[in-house]
Amino acid sequence: MMRPLSNQLALLLVLALIASEPWPCHAVKGIFPKYHVHIVNNLTNNILNLHCKSKDDDLGPHALPVNTEFHFSFRVNLFGTTLFWCNFNWGNGRGGGYKVFWYGKGLARKCNYKNCIWSARDDAIYLMNFFANKYEKYYDWQY
Ligand SMILES: *[C@@H]1O[C@H](CO)[C@@H](O)[C@H](O)[C@H]1NC(C)=O
Repeated sequence: MMRPLSNQLALLLVLALIASEPWPCHAVKGIFPKYHVHIVNNLTNNILNLHCKSKDDDLGPHALPVNTEFHFSFRVNLFGTTLFWCNFNWGNGRGGGYKVFWYGKGLARKCNYKNCIWSARDDAIYLMNFFANKYEKYYDWQY
């Protein structure tokens, strides 16, 4: 009667593997938190052209006048692989494929688990760090 026993052991092994599979913590904490990404044109006097995308979404090209913002919202996916990036161009600087959202503890905290605020300025792109309560320089412009 070895066969039924080894079947049971195999089943136990499979169950143990499933149980030990680490759950992404957002799946435990809540139902896929909603995030808002804001991109603010804080340039002195240039229109900010941007075009943001994820693997599944193309948010289209936008031309932001000074002191206006572009924003979008989404829920992070089950696998924690949500990723958005943008191409920027404002005449004196550009940025290709700059990531504006990814699922990471560090970023989530800076975004206060809800709002990622990017501020495009003449010298660089800054990210609001809600935890430290200040903007931090994040991406230099490419020329
Ligand atoms: C950036 O622009 C936003 C939107 O108009 C404005 O509220 C904010 O004060 C500006 N920030 C800086 C640092 O100029």
